[in-house]
Order: sequence, then C-alpha cells, then structure tokens
Amino acid sequence: MDDQAVSKEFIKSLPKAELHLHLEGTLESELKLKLAQKNKVSIGQNTIEEVKESYQFDSLPSFLAIYYPAMNVLQEEEDFYLLAWSYLQKVKEQNVVYAELFFDPQAHTTRGVSFETVINGYYRAIAESEKLGIKSALIMCFLRDLSAESAMETYEEALNYQDKILGIGLDSDEKGNPPEKFAAVFARAQADGFHTTMHCDIDQEDSIAHIRTALLEIGVERLDHGTNIVEDPALVEYVKQKGIGLTCCPVSNGFVVADMKGKEIKQLLHEGVKVTVNSDDPAYFQSYVADDLFSLAAAYDLTKAEVIQLVKNAFSIAWIPEAEKIKYHEQVEKAAHLQ
Ligand code: ADE
Ligand code: ZN
Repeated sequence: MDDQAVSKEFIKSLPKAELHLHLEGTLESELKLKLAQKNKVSIGQNTIEEVKESYQFDSLPSFLAIYYPAMNVLQEEEDFYLLAWSYLQKVKEQNVVYAELFFDPQAHTTRGVSFETVINGYYRAIAESEKLGIKSALIMCFLRDLSAESAMETYEEALNYQDKILGIGLDSDEKGNPPEKFAAVFARAQADGFHTTMHCDIDQEDSIAHIRTALLEIGVERLDHGTNIVEDPALVEYVKQKGIGLTCCPVSNGFVVADMKGKEIKQLLHEGVKVTVNSDDPAYFQSYVADDLFSLAAAYDLTKAEVIQLVKNAFSIAWIPEAEKIKYHEQVEKAAHLQ
C-alpha cells in the first residue's frame, strides 16, 4: 500500500457505509425553501443565500437552535419521503451502499405532525433505496432534552412500526441530560430486540462519565461521536475488546467545537478501535460522507491504508449479518485494488 496523498476520487471509488446521519440534517436550502412555499410556512428567509447566511453556529446548542425551527417546513408524508429520497440520491453519487439513518420523531410530534406521517414518509424512501443500489435502515432517536416520559411514550408508539426500525439512539442537547435519564426506555428497547446507540457528544461537561454510563450501564452497541474516550485508557481498552464502534463526524466537530478531533480519531484507529467517519448533518455542514473522509484525510495526512480501514470499520460495526460484512469488505478491497 503506497503512502501517496489520498484523492477525493479514491475516496469516492470506495463503497461506503454511513452510520451517523440525521435525516433532518439533510434538509438542503433548496428543498427547505420549496417545502416552505408549498406548506405556506414562514422560515424568515426567502433565498438560498439568506438561508445559508443564517447558518451561524459555533456550538451544539447554537446549531440546534437553527436546526429545529427549520423542521417546520416538513408537514406531510410526502415531505419526509422527499427529504430522505433526496439524501439517498445524493449519496449514491458518492458510492454509499449502506446507510443507517437517524430520525427524531419528537421533533415532529411535538409540533403536531403525527408519528405515522413521519415514519411512513421516511420508510417509503428506505424501502425504495435498493433501486439506487443502497441498502438502508432507520434508527429512531429520542430527544434527550425532553423528558424520559416523553421518550417512553414515543417508544410505545414506535412499537406499532417495529418492523420499520432497526435501532434506537439518543441525540440533541447533552448538557444536563445524561444517559441514565433514559435507562428504562433503553432497557426496554434492548429486551424487545432493538439495536442501541447513543450520542456522547464532543467535549461535554461530563463526557467521560456519560461515555462510561452509556457503555457499562446502558450497554449500547455503538457510541455516536464519543472521541473523548481517549481520556480514559481503560474505556478505550473496553471498546476495543468488545468491538464497539465510534461513529465520528469530523466536519461537524469542526463546526461545533472548532476541532475535527482528527488526532483522537487517528489515535483510536491505530489502537485498533472501530472508529468510522460520518457526516452527521450534511446540509448544515456542507459535507457528505465522502467529503468528511476527504477533509479528515487532507487535514491529518491519512494514508490510503488508514482511509480503507476507516471505511471497512463502518461495515464491521453496521447492524448487518456477518456474511454481509465480509461481502462489503471484499468490495472495498476490490475497489482499492487490494484483491
Ligand atoms: N442532532 C443533530 N445533530 C446532532 C449532534 N451532532 N449532536 C446531538 N444531536 C444532534
Ligand atoms: Zn449526530
């Protein structure tokens, strides 16, 4: 394996998995304006330039303050379908072949859009994604700044659509909203056979305590972000031994904490932890998964071998049967001319 600089073309040529993607974070300005007009929703901006100018954020709360109000443009089942379908079409061009996609039902049900409307729209796109050569699935996230009771009510509603949901996650503002707040609903989801993951966002007040609880008490299968784990070598060893993966989002990190956390990602990669690179909210950070991989590779001088390992890790920690992981790994090696 040569050590020459990794090109965008090389990254695009590799079949890729996306494991940390918020469907609501794929709402591009064009679609936002189109849906605002169709649904007669005022968003305060009238042009793409105005929408983009409004994207002023430098922390997770300041990002979320722009992110949630924009969701008002999503009203009908067709809107949710179109959002997910537009995303899938876009990443087909980047050679994404597998995607596990987060959605936030409470961000919609709390403003009067039914759970049924949301999931039926999203799921129709998921079911059709194979037409694009992409296998995809949904992960339902609870908003951690809402109550545990609200999460439990949402979970009970989701049980009516159990066959449409692969896993359960936790997102939104972490400050003061630790994993243990949701222990009961996660225990129930695990007992019911759902996969589980959780955001442990970057540089939070209690990052290490949250990571420890998520891993040792809740027993999640993956961590979303989670790179603060480097501060505790025993926890690094734990995830390494258990094969627990971290879904990192370097460009998103660059926006919300002004640091891609590339040093940490590289360190974890070299320690044999299953770290992966993902895009989080690509419409807001203007970076889809191949762009994230390229930005990280360019900023941290990654070799082709390192990029290939990051890409293979995503298939290793995907919630798919072992035989499919092997098949995808072979496809990556073939594309990289290793076979
Ligand atoms: N919702 C969308 N993006 C998020 C992030 N990076 N962290 C927490 N919640 C989110
Ligand atoms: Zn996220």
